[in-house]
Amino acid sequence: MSRLAPTRSREPGARLLPSDCLPPWLRHKIGLDLAGRGQLKQIIAIYPGSFDPVTNGHLDLINRGCKLFDRLIIAVAQNPDKGGALFCVEERVEMLKAMTAQIENVTVDSFEGLLMNYCIEKNANAVLRGIRAVSDYEFELQMALMNRKIEPRVETVFMMPAEKYSYLSSRIVREIASFGGPLAGLVPDMVEQRLHRRIQEQRSAAFAIPSK
Ligand code: PNS
Repeated sequence: MSRLAPTRSREPGARLLPSDCLPPWLRHKIGLDLAGRGQLKQIIAIYPGSFDPVTNGHLDLINRGCKLFDRLIIAVAQNPDKGGALFCVEERVEMLKAMTAQIENVTVDSFEGLLMNYCIEKNANAVLRGIRAVSDYEFELQMALMNRKIEPRVETVFMMPAEKYSYLSSRIVREIASFGGPLAGLVPDMVEQRLHRRIQEQRSAAFAIPSK
């Protein structure tokens, strides 16, 4: 038998991987396991952010990320310094859970403190961040390099959402909502309804006559 003959039985018509042509002893030596996937460990990625609120751009990135990683944990940052939030962390988590319930390898959580500490706690080896335009790059680079300095075992992976979301951000969505502008196509319907309701609540609270 040729040394390069496939060493594993495969389904008829199945695609032959380069590693299939190696004998098991060599596959082991160069770090390929018998499943043909190599010695890649499970990639658990954290997708951190404020998500105030989740937009279609975030969901686009989640849909891309869940195909790349074994597990994707969406982590809403509890950032007491970032004032002016429209939704509390629990509400953001609830909306994200509703929007991702159908995706098997995606979970939603929240975290406080350093992102790298949270990654260690969750055994995560990657952080997913979205880059929409060159303007995002400077801040994202600074954050990724600082995170690498804090915890070199965690890699930051940048992905691009679809071009149609390249101008979209939670901040701009909050602003449009505050002026009663159109939100169709920018956020899921459920989020749109909650945005309108929240703005209404804020207006009513602002005009309420304080009781003595
Ligand atoms: O959606 P955002 O607001 O751009 O997300 C920013 C976020 C939450 C990812 C970032 O502020 C963060 O990681 N906060 C946790 C605190 C931390 O680890 N800071 C050091 C980053 S170098």
